[in-house]
Amino acid sequence: MSTPAVQALILAGGLGTRMKSAVPKVLHDVLGHPILWYVVDALKDIDVRPIVVTPAADEPFRAAFGDRLTYAVQPEQHGSGHAVQCGMDYVSAEYVLVCNGDDPFPSAEDYREFLDESLAEHAEAAVLAAHLDDPGQLGRIVRTVDGAFAGIVEARDARPKQLDIREINTGIYLFRSAQLRAWLAQMKPNNAQGEYYITDCLAMAVQDGSHVHCPVARGAWEMSGVNDRAELALAAGLLQRRKLDHLYGEGVSVDMPGTVRIDWDVVVGRDTEIRQGSCLRGSTKVGSSSIIGPNTILVDAQVGDETTVLVSFVEGAAIGSNCTVGPFSYIRPGTLMAEGSKVGAFCELKASSLGAGSKVPHLSYIGDAAIAENVNVGAGTITCNYDGFTHAKHRTVIEKDVFIGANNNLVAPVTIHEGAYTATGSTITHDVPPEALAIARAVQVDKEGWVRRKKHGQ
Ligand code: UD1
Ligand code: CA
Repeated sequence: MSTPAVQALILAGGLGTRMKSAVPKVLHDVLGHPILWYVVDALKDIDVRPIVVTPAADEPFRAAFGDRLTYAVQPEQHGSGHAVQCGMDYVSAEYVLVCNGDDPFPSAEDYREFLDESLAEHAEAAVLAAHLDDPGQLGRIVRTVDGAFAGIVEARDARPKQLDIREINTGIYLFRSAQLRAWLAQMKPNNAQGEYYITDCLAMAVQDGSHVHCPVARGAWEMSGVNDRAELALAAGLLQRRKLDHLYGEGVSVDMPGTVRIDWDVVVGRDTEIRQGSCLRGSTKVGSSSIIGPNTILVDAQVGDETTVLVSFVEGAAIGSNCTVGPFSYIRPGTLMAEGSKVGAFCELKASSLGAGSKVPHLSYIGDAAIAENVNVGAGTITCNYDGFTHAKHRTVIEKDVFIGANNNLVAPVTIHEGAYTATGSTITHDVPPEALAIARAVQVDKEGWVRRKKHGQ
């Protein structure tokens, strides 16, 4: 028998009132992705183009997910059952997998297992249950004395005894589409919120003698859905633990894990140490045997092997292998540090390249510069890349084996040719020929006896 076609319907049409936010609830960030992304990601092997039910203002959804998804608008919020009704216009498959869009936890395996099992059971309706120590405001699974599924009751509609039930509705359902349409047509908003509940369709399925399947999720289920800021923080913490467990398994050490933040997509190689207070965000990738931190922030950064980044901020930059950065440096977008290069303390580099073995050890601003290999940039050197008028910044080129003396101003556009030296305190305003020494500073004048005359009139 061939597998029946299944489409996924993700419910994200709620206003998320409990978040008290201008941003739709499911678009809030958890470890570098909106909550809804995790649902879409987990479903990607099951259904190539999931349908997402959004509120009327769906622009932020389109901006975040583009045309990877099909969008079904729920013009007014009349509950999860109403959201499903709005989404069903886009469903043509025999089965529909309905899931809440506010739950980043279920994994691809959780969805897959539930789906396969429910299809194998030939269920007309199915819902995934889970046991929670603290079921809070979640819907409770009601069973008959012999354990058969009887229905779902929301916490606010529950009798006190039902509130003691710890088996909850995870918000993941499978329906045979034809039957679901019939049940949706019969829904009534007879509950504390005056809304149409998708959960009522399961009770209707039981009543009309359809086959309803209600398996209990395997493994520890710690929460279900994000409804407010406290749950958002809890969700981030739980997913962070999952991410850290994965990194430990890859041979990564994390010092003081409670103090770090590592986004979901970050990749770290084995024997690298992430030290306390560090934050690795976005698409950051770190190689092996490197040391990141303490107190280092990497945003969309690439770091090679055996590199140390100490107390620094790196964004949109690539740092090679065997490099050192910091303490207290700022590496900005477009910067490329080649193998074995060094940026020391209190330096800022922007859209610049630093060749192999080159060094910017102390207190420098290097912007829009191409620095070749084996260059030493003296302490306090500044590239003067902005003339105060033009939008385009001017470039500084420093060829290989150049030595820039301390406290230089390199007034761009300017090129220091191969092997040249510049004297300490120089303001270099034109190109320096190869292997020349450029001296561009006032000549020292010593006024003998000047202090004595000033102080004592002698
Ligand atoms: C819902 C379930 C509850 C379950 C819990 C699991 C209902 C009635 N209750 O409760 O049994 O234990 O999820 O996390 O479904 N939505 C819309 N349009 C609406 C209202 C909601 O699209 O008009 C969407 C929301 O964006 C959300 C999902 O449906 O993704 C669930 O809605 P929510 O209000 O979060 O329901 P819960 O109270 O969490
Ligand atoms: Ca919810």
